[in-house]
Amino acid sequence: MKPLLYNLGIDAALGCNLAELLDADIGTLKTRQFPDGETYLRFDDDCQQRSVILACSLDQPNDKVVPLLLAADTLRDLGAGQVGLVAPYLAYMRQDMRFHPGEGITARYFARLLSAHFDWLATVDPHLHRFHAMDEIYRTPAIAVHAAPVLAEWIGRNVSDPLLIGPDEESRQWVADVAARAGAPFLVLEKQRFGDRDVRVSLPELGQHGQRVPVILDDIVSSGRTAVATIEHLLAQGSPAPVCAFVHGVFADGALSALRAAGASRIVTCNTIIHETNAIDVSTLLASASRSLMAEPSR
Ligand code: R5P
Repeated sequence: MKPLLYNLGIDAALGCNLAELLDADIGTLKTRQFPDGETYLRFDDDCQQRSVILACSLDQPNDKVVPLLLAADTLRDLGAGQVGLVAPYLAYMRQDMRFHPGEGITARYFARLLSAHFDWLATVDPHLHRFHAMDEIYRTPAIAVHAAPVLAEWIGRNVSDPLLIGPDEESRQWVADVAARAGAPFLVLEKQRFGDRDVRVSLPELGQHGQRVPVILDDIVSSGRTAVATIEHLLAQGSPAPVCAFVHGVFADGALSALRAAGASRIVTCNTIIHETNAIDVSTLLASASRSLMAEPSR
């Protein structure tokens, strides 16, 4: 029986590519809000014993999560064999410790919540800093694919003589991976964050790389402050206008225009969060993770 995929909020082309790569039918879900704001759901397809995939990117998660969990439980109730989640962007990964007394470790609680409702989870480069692997917090089988191969491929096709720039020490490993795949040198910044929008970076001397085109790589762009500070340092050292390539374009208010105003020559993102900068497709990565997760015995 073919798997059944419901697009509850991912890029339409990504949804179609995934369905094609997984040889899945695309299902239809009718949903609306009751006048009191509660969610009405109705699945039109026979999902008895089928592997069902809910695809939903979890940027702006608070409005999406309740309908998503209700959808997963409804499918199970309707007899689905398994219900998996493809979340190209996975939310609530950054509060991964108690930074101040009284705070919650919401990454852990959110993981517990999703694990209780889904048989498996596939995502792209979640923000794993203090947790190093998904199974440290996710009880449900989870695969985090890396966007490095598709980023490197994009850079290879679009930037001549690139110099890759990583935002901080934690990014060194994956920036090194992209650089090796793209056959380019890389540098890593020292970064300090003093607040949501107060970021300071220091950049090593560009030296012999001075005339290469810098490609600022980051897993997430949110306020854009990290990238803006980096662009300013690069331009002050006389480098060509940088390209910015991000996995997840969260783009808080004003971030995109701030990057353009700072002097970025091009800004691209993976299609993990729907945005005008989407230029790098992650469907093959997510399809192969989903395929292997669907093959695991159901819990
Ligand atoms: C931090 O560890 C991440 O890798 C990004 O550098 C960070 O989330 C970017 O945030 P912003 O765009 O707000 O500077």
